[in-house]
Amino acid sequence: MIIDQLHLVNFKNYRESSFSFSPDLNFIYGENGNGKTNILEAISILCYTKSFLMNSESDCLKYGEEAFEIQGIFKNRVESKNKVSLVYKKENNERQLLSDGEKVSKTNEYIGRFPLVVLSPYDLKLTMGLQQERRRNFDLLISQVSKVYLNDLRKYQKIIKQKNSLLKENTISKRYSYNELKELIGIWNYELLDLAVKIMLRRLDFTEEFRSYMNSSFSRISGLRYIPVIIYQSDLLDLNGINGFDDLKNLLQKILDEKLDTEIKRGASLVGPHRDSYVFCMDKNGENFEMRSFASQGEHKSFVVSLKLSEFDYINENLKHTNTGKPILLLDDVFSELDKNRIKRISEFINEFNQVFITSTDKEHLKILKNDLRDTKSFHIMNGSSEMIA
Ligand SMILES: Nc1ncnc2c1ncn2[C@@H]1O[C@H](COP(=O)(O)OP(=O)(O)O)[C@@H](O)[C@H]1O
Ligand SMILES: [Mg+2]
Repeated sequence: MIIDQLHLVNFKNYRESSFSFSPDLNFIYGENGNGKTNILEAISILCYTKSFLMNSESDCLKYGEEAFEIQGIFKNRVESKNKVSLVYKKENNERQLLSDGEKVSKTNEYIGRFPLVVLSPYDLKLTMGLQQERRRNFDLLISQVSKVYLNDLRKYQKIIKQKNSLLKENTISKRYSYNELKELIGIWNYELLDLAVKIMLRRLDFTEEFRSYMNSSFSRISGLRYIPVIIYQSDLLDLNGINGFDDLKNLLQKILDEKLDTEIKRGASLVGPHRDSYVFCMDKNGENFEMRSFASQGEHKSFVVSLKLSEFDYINENLKHTNTGKPILLLDDVFSELDKNRIKRISEFINEFNQVFITSTDKEHLKILKNDLRDTKSFHIMNGSSEMIA
């Protein structure tokens, strides 16, 4: 997929702007605070239905305005077009997503239609930050190639929300006796068990499949012979040697039963994929070091960049027999975070990519990226308006 046209109305610092993009390389430059990232954010909202920066719609509404609109025209390999738009109205905090004029009521059906990979300075949090960032990152990745996963995840999250509010509420209101509560939680546990097992098995499969992509992109990006390792683990369950659905289901059931008392005491659900972790490590000559505690700045950066390039390969491979094809790639402000060598290495990949967007404060950076094989468009962004440079 590529995005061919973008039209913004009252989105952040844009009053009304239209962009006609190159199917290959789009270079967006301008001084800080002028609206480069905002363009990428708008694209991510059309692809993910949410901003990659996790901003809410109300944050994206231009100061003092009542409504914004983001319109995009996407094209797939066979050149068939899809016009989508997202309208947000401040009144009632209402948003509407339209696809070729028709209302999209289930975002589950929509996500994955325009696959997208984003690398931004914000992603450097992935190796250092909280567990939930890593879970969210991979949930979004797997969801873009698997509707089954996305549906299971949404259903599971709904149940956990209800289970949590029951547990939490009862610590305050004491509405139910201990035995009543136990019975009610038992019902939620029964409802979530199969979904939890499916989600966990999918994540285990994913980490297995993702390994080879990480290996090759890491060695290309860093030139190091260390091996990046991503381990999916649960604090309370030993996932090593799990043998299929029933095996994991029995184990999870047992732990859910064992932890029921603690869950009631703490007023929160403590067992299941919403609590599991992705641990990022580096295998140096056979020894595993956890990134969060031991990696150098440079290793963090190499890890995150290769992670994102692997996401591109992963989506590409999983969707190669569909018309959707390769994802769009957004590279936000990578020049400020990465040294010349890494940028050079990324640019070596550029011909393998699909449509790419790169923002930078320095016009000269285009020279590092440009090559004759790629159709390139440059956009100079000044204070919420854009000028296309031929
Ligand atoms: N809701 C909003 N309404 C109007 N302007 C906004 C809004 N949110 C952010 N901005 C403005 O957008 C600009 C930042 O844009 P951004 O795309 O992050 O810049 P860049 O990436 O070029 O550094 C800032 O000037 C900020 O004040
Ligand atoms: Mg920016």
